[in-house]
Amino acid sequence: MDECLIFGTGASAAKDYDGLKRVVSCAATCGIRMFDTAPSYGVEEILAKVIFDVSQEKGLSREDFIIQTKIDAWQMVEGNVEKFVDCALQKMKLQYIDNLLIHWPLPDFLDDTWNKMKLMKKSGKVRKIGICNVRTRHLNLFDKRGVSPDIIQIERNPLRTCEREIEFCKQKGIEIQAYSPLCKMDRRLADSSVIKKFSEKYNKNIGQIILRWHLDTGVSPIFTSTKDYRIREYMDLFDFALSEDDVAAISALNINYKYYLESCLCPGF
Ligand SMILES: NC(=O)c1ccc[n+]([C@@H]2O[C@H](COP(=O)([O-])OP(=O)(O)OC[C@H]3O[C@@H](n4cnc5c(N)ncnc54)[C@H](OP(=O)(O)O)[C@@H]3O)[C@@H](O)[C@H]2O)c1
Repeated sequence: MDECLIFGTGASAAKDYDGLKRVVSCAATCGIRMFDTAPSYGVEEILAKVIFDVSQEKGLSREDFIIQTKIDAWQMVEGNVEKFVDCALQKMKLQYIDNLLIHWPLPDFLDDTWNKMKLMKKSGKVRKIGICNVRTRHLNLFDKRGVSPDIIQIERNPLRTCEREIEFCKQKGIEIQAYSPLCKMDRRLADSSVIKKFSEKYNKNIGQIILRWHLDTGVSPIFTSTKDYRIREYMDLFDFALSEDDVAAISALNINYKYYLESCLCPGF
């Protein structure tokens, strides 16, 4: 897959039609084509309508966009994946969902959900399937059980570099997406002398340097912003790349910090 930034509609994102329309329109103008959502974000329907309206205004088509949604934990427990996919398709007025991800790998429901998602992919209702919030212990077990996701989505930023997970995915050819790629611009990143030095060296702001670090390590960041100017700035990073040493210096900021609580529902199985 080509280098790309993904726009998130979960945490910290606009939730109403007007707010979402403004940022999606700005994102689409800047070239963002992939949007991340989930039933629990409460915006699947609005996002689909916004994407439809924006594509009409900009002369783009459905095929130009990648819409990614998820199977939430309660849906795994209920177990009727086909019903949820049909419901998402109907709600979003779509013929197919590009990417469908398991939001949390609940151990007791993973095999069943995964097998049903594979059927959804086979039927053409879904193009790619994947799993969020996994660690190497999960990936090793998936490997043993023959579970081979197209996509993995994990919390990842310079304070939490997830090197083992990324190495594993690269070896297996799995697409890697990072949520909270800026760690919500945590002060330890905003004030980092290492990142500030590269900001001066490359003449880019702190956020651009961090997002570029994701791309230069083979990861697609899922960022979000309620500000048009920030979306424009963050898309202005395809004209440079960090040197290998500079990538390594940013990776060395790792302290395995996790912003979102680790789920006690999937401690490993
Ligand atoms: N799979 C999962 O379990 C999971 C979990 C969490 C999130 N996600 C996905 O990932 C997406 C992004 O997550 P996130 O919101 O945690 O990511 P993030 O992009 O790291 O953080 C976004 C927040 O950082 C702020 N920000 C960005 N640049 C800034 C700057 N230079 N100075 C000050 N503040 C700045 C934004 O504020 P402004 O609005 O002011 O720009 C926004 O509040 C979500 O929307 C969702 O789609 C998935």
